[in-house]
This record gives sequence, C-alpha cells and structure tokens, in this order.
Amino acid sequence: MGFVSSGFVVAVVVLLSSSVLCNGGITSSFVRKVEKTIDMPFHSDVFSVPPGYNAPQQVHITQGDHEGKAMIVSWVTMEEPGSSTVSYWSENSKHKNKAMGNFNTYKYYNYTSGYIHHCTLRNLKFDTKYFYEVGIGQTPRTFWFVTPPAVGPDVPYTFGLIGDLGQTYDSNSTLTHYEHNPIVGKAVLYVGDLSYADNHPNHDNVKWDTWGRFVERSTAYQPWIWTTGNHEIDYAPEIGESVPFKPFTHRYRTPHKASNSSDPFWYSIKRASAYVIVLSSYSAYGMYTPQYQWLYEELPKVNRSETPWLIVLVHSPWYNSYKYHYMEGESMRVMYEPWFVQYKVDIVFAGHVHAYERSERVSNIAYNIVNGICRPVSDQSAPVYITIGDGGNIEGLATIMTEPQPEYSAFREASFGHAVLDIKNRTHAYYAWHRNQDGDSVKGDALWIFNRYWHQIDDSTTSRSG
Ligand SMILES: *[C@@H]1O[C@H](CO)[C@@H](O)[C@H](O)[C@H]1NC(C)=O
Ligand SMILES: *[C@@H]1O[C@H](CO)[C@@H](O)[C@H](O)[C@H]1NC(C)=O
Ligand SMILES: *[C@@H]1O[C@H](CO)[C@@H](O)[C@H](O)[C@H]1NC(C)=O
Ligand SMILES: *[C@@H]1O[C@H](CO)[C@@H](O)[C@H](O)[C@H]1NC(C)=O
Ligand SMILES: *[C@@H]1O[C@H](CO)[C@@H](O)[C@H](O)[C@H]1NC(C)=O
Ligand SMILES: [Fe+2]
Repeated sequence: MGFVSSGFVVAVVVLLSSSVLCNGGITSSFVRKVEKTIDMPFHSDVFSVPPGYNAPQQVHITQGDHEGKAMIVSWVTMEEPGSSTVSYWSENSKHKNKAMGNFNTYKYYNYTSGYIHHCTLRNLKFDTKYFYEVGIGQTPRTFWFVTPPAVGPDVPYTFGLIGDLGQTYDSNSTLTHYEHNPIVGKAVLYVGDLSYADNHPNHDNVKWDTWGRFVERSTAYQPWIWTTGNHEIDYAPEIGESVPFKPFTHRYRTPHKASNSSDPFWYSIKRASAYVIVLSSYSAYGMYTPQYQWLYEELPKVNRSETPWLIVLVHSPWYNSYKYHYMEGESMRVMYEPWFVQYKVDIVFAGHVHAYERSERVSNIAYNIVNGICRPVSDQSAPVYITIGDGGNIEGLATIMTEPQPEYSAFREASFGHAVLDIKNRTHAYYAWHRNQDGDSVKGDALWIFNRYWHQIDDSTTSRSG
C-alpha cells in the first residue's frame, strides 16, 4: 500500500511539474481553409490513357535490389498482354540491353485488371542515367531514371516524402509542389495509402488504374519506395475478397527478397548514405512473427560506417497528437521502440494521420507494468518521428488536435504538403516540410537533423524546460 501511494505521489508531482514547466512545441498559426477534398473526375488530364494500341500505362519504378544497382519496372497494358520485355540503355551508350519480365492479372469482385507487367533491370551502373522502353512491338514508350551513387558514408542524396496521396485536386497540388521543389528529390519514400480505391463502392479497382496513371509523371522517372497502409489491405469478405493486400501485391513490387524478408510488406534497402527499413503496420509484428524475427535480425546488420542514416518507414505513427488514429500505433511502438533507441534510428516517417507533425527526440521505454514510468522522456538516442500523411486524399484533413500540445510534439499543422530530406554527409541532413498554401508551396517546418551515430548533438527546435 505504501508503495502504491508513494508511486501515486510521484506521479502527481511529475504531472504537476510537467504541466507547469513543459508547454510542448509549436502548433502552427497557419490555418488552412478547410474545404472538402474531391477526387479529380475520371476525364481529368492526369488520368488520360496514353494513345496507341495497347500502350503501356501506369508506369512505375522502384529499387530492385539491396544496394541500388537494380530497378523494377512495372506497367499495365489493357487490350492484350503484349511484350513484358524492357529495352534499356545508358545515356552514354548506344548498346541496348533487354530484360525479360512477366505479367499477371487479378480479379476483384466484378473488376478484372489489365495485364500487369513487372521486369527487373539488374547490374546497372551506379550514378548513371538510363533510358528504358516498354510496349515493345506495339506502342513503345520511353522513360528514364538515374541510378543512385554507390553506397557510402558521405554520399549526398535527396529523398522526397509523400504519404496518403489519393487522387484529389489536393493530391495533384502535392505532387506538383514536390516536382517543383527547388531541392530536387531523387527518390520518394512513400509512407502508405496510395489510391483510396477502397473508399468507393466494391473498392472500385478502376481507381487503382487512375491512380497509377496520375502518378506516372513521377513514378516512371524516379523510384518510389513503397510502404503499405490500411488502404492497401482491401479486405472485403462481404464481396468475397478475403485475401489482404490483393490489388497492391499484384500491382506493386518491393525488393523484399534482397533483404531476406519473407513478405513484400517489410524489407530494407540501402541508397547512397541511407539505410531505409520499411515496416508493415498491418502485418503481424508481435514476438515470433516473421516481421518481428526479420527486424530482430535486420537491425544489427546496419553498418553506420557504410550507411550512417538509418530511416524507418511505417504507416501508423507512434507519436501523434491529433485526435485521428490516436494510439493506433501504440502496440507496435511497445514492441519495437527499445530497438530503435538501442540502434539509434535517425528518423521514423509515418503517414495515416492526414496532417503534419514532427516530434522531439523522445522515448518511452522504461515502463515495466509495475513501475509507473510511462511518460515519454527526452532522449538523444531516439529518432525524430515525423507524420507526413498529408498528401491530400479524399478523406480530407485531420484538424482536431489534443490540447494542450503534448511535450513530445515539436511542431504540428493541419495542412496538406510534402517534405524533402536532403542528406549532405554523415553528420548533417537538411529537412523541410512544405505546405500547400492556396496553390503555392510554402516552407512550413525546416531544420537541420544531426545524425544519431556520428553527431549525437541535440537538434531540437523548441526549448525544453521539462
Ligand atoms: C460492378 O458492380 C457494380 C454494382 O454492383 C456496378 O455498378 C458496376 O458497373 C459493375 N462493374 C462491372 C465492371 O461489371
Ligand atoms: C494537375 O497538375 C498538373 C501540373 O500542375 C496540371 O497540368 C494539371 O492540369 C492538373 N490537373 C488537374 C485535374 O487539376
Ligand atoms: C540474406 O541471406 C543470405 C544467406 O543467408 C546472405 O548471404 C545475405 O547476405 C543476406 N542478405 C542480407 C541483405 O541480409
Ligand atoms: C562497415 O563498413 C565499413 C565501411 O564500408 C567497412 O570497412 C567495415 O568492414 C564494415 N563493418 C562490418 C562489420 O561489416
Ligand atoms: C557536413 O555538412 C554540413 C552541412 O552542409 C557542413 O556544415 C559540414 O561541414 C559537413 N561536414 C563535413 C565533414 O564536411
Ligand atoms: Fe491510413
């Protein structure tokens, strides 16, 4: 009893002192005009079908191996399968290489997909511009990409961050602002929720096709690194669809085998000076599950002398102070947060909440059921948690926040937008979030992020007194 009551007294003192001393971070004063987000109509320019018989559409690329020397090229043909071969050549070479791919189709309720092709281009040279052609023999279309530089500790690289994009007019603004950002992103770290087809009757899979055509203007030219969100589950037993992730797995590939993962939903890649670990909020992650076992073996493999920047992507955020999806990420946080602190993860990017938020470096790993120590504390070995689920989908903006702003929340703003992470070297990365402000892209939150392994100096932006 004495123990319980003294614990209670300690808790009250902590609560009082924290409410007196700690006032959380910044809630942006910018209030975006909140209008309903609406999908761009079917006949919009962004959804137009490329001309020509059986022309490849929905072209997208993603990294195809662990190091960045392979690229998976995917596309859809509608009339007939056509060729699954990709012809490709480097900028300085006339020699055309060919890679053989394959195609699949799937049915979803009363929808039948087109012919979905996937082809992996291997043994590419680092830091090289390649052209590639799909639709060979019928209506060829040519695109290009640039491979990343060889993996190394001080190799600069710029990632874009986009989440929960959907296909509304706001989605189009977000993508346009990303494309026009003067800090040019070379690959997108995508934190899940792609087409929002499942918000339409019978998960209208035509929306997966329109989304593929909408984003092609970026996804055909730079790899998007895919994370799955709840809108990829497409679990609908009431219409006979009980295989989770069916449309996503047929349409999108990830290089999961290269990181010895058993499933496409969790995997890792190296790219320049970054090591990116993608996790699945909607696959089992408890002890003894394949994802748990994989992550347990994966984290010790990260060599910070080779890839200083350790970045994790997940859909459901662990540190969130909006009223939307509050604590949904909690069980995964409880499972994995001690590892993230132990291995000094630099940044965790999440989506799901349709707004923007950045946390302080905090951890909450001391709790052991009986000790009552269950508040986040400042921790310079902990990641910064960034929620970037603000792509602008049909579900609209998350505007209601918990008040007062919790201490762990450094900056939050209910606006749509995107971000860029500009890695300079092993110690410094410049990070900037841009809101969509009445059609313009305006920098809303920017800071230097210091690497946790090489430069573990406090990089918080708000003065913390608690
Ligand atoms: C699928 O079924 C819905 C209604 O159940 C209908 O509106 C739609 O036209 C059908 N689509 C196809 C491709 O048959
Ligand atoms: C989408 O954005 C692009 C680029 O700004 C523009 O050309 C296009 O007209 C927009 N489409 C719609 C439907 O808003
Ligand atoms: C995957 O496993 C194989 C065989 O055990 C090993 O050689 C390889 O290094 C592993 N790859 C990664 C990225 O861990
Ligand atoms: C880590 O990477 C560095 C730089 O590439 C290399 O010299 C070192 O041998 C690696 N360490 C391990 C344990 O593989
Ligand atoms: C790393 O980049 C930062 C920011 O550009 C710069 O200030 C710093 O001097 C660089 N460090 C080294 C060792 O070059
Ligand atoms: Fe989501």
